[in-house]
Amino acid sequence: MAVLPIIKYGNSILRLESERIKVIDNEIKQLARDMIETMQASEGIGLAAPQVARSLALITIDLSLIDENEKPAAFINPKILEKEGEIVMEEGCLSVPGIKEEVTRPERIRIVYQTVNSETVDTWVDGLLARVLQHEVDHLYGVLFVDRINIFRKKMLTKQLKQIAKEEKESQKAAA
Ligand code: CO
Repeated sequence: MAVLPIIKYGNSILRLESERIKVIDNEIKQLARDMIETMQASEGIGLAAPQVARSLALITIDLSLIDENEKPAAFINPKILEKEGEIVMEEGCLSVPGIKEEVTRPERIRIVYQTVNSETVDTWVDGLLARVLQHEVDHLYGVLFVDRINIFRKKMLTKQLKQIAKEEKESQKAAA
């Protein structure tokens, strides 16, 4: 297992559309395990593969920080089929450190995905899981939560976002 580096706002990989996973092989299973470890090391509740610089339709979620009955899980090729209701919740993102903003999204979603055991699940979810899934599925389409906030709030965050992008550029240069 390994903790992977998380790329930040301003990195162009975060803006790509992710590739569908055709075969859930050992490499994908290992990536899912590494993503879970990475998420736990950063005390995050969700992570999408593009955030660890892999443009693949894979997300991991771990709500055990909030509810001890929850277990970490991987969602492969997730697709939101239906949406219902509307709710405002505060969101943050490991790729946009230091920023938390309210985002309005559907309250309940019907989602289809595959597990690491290649089983297909088609289910309705609500609450925090529905929220985190929508945030992470957005990542697979190159969308970040700051794209979904009020335009005036986003204007107020311009300086902070520019600073994150600047630091990301410097760390990419240092890694090259
Ligand atoms: Co995020």
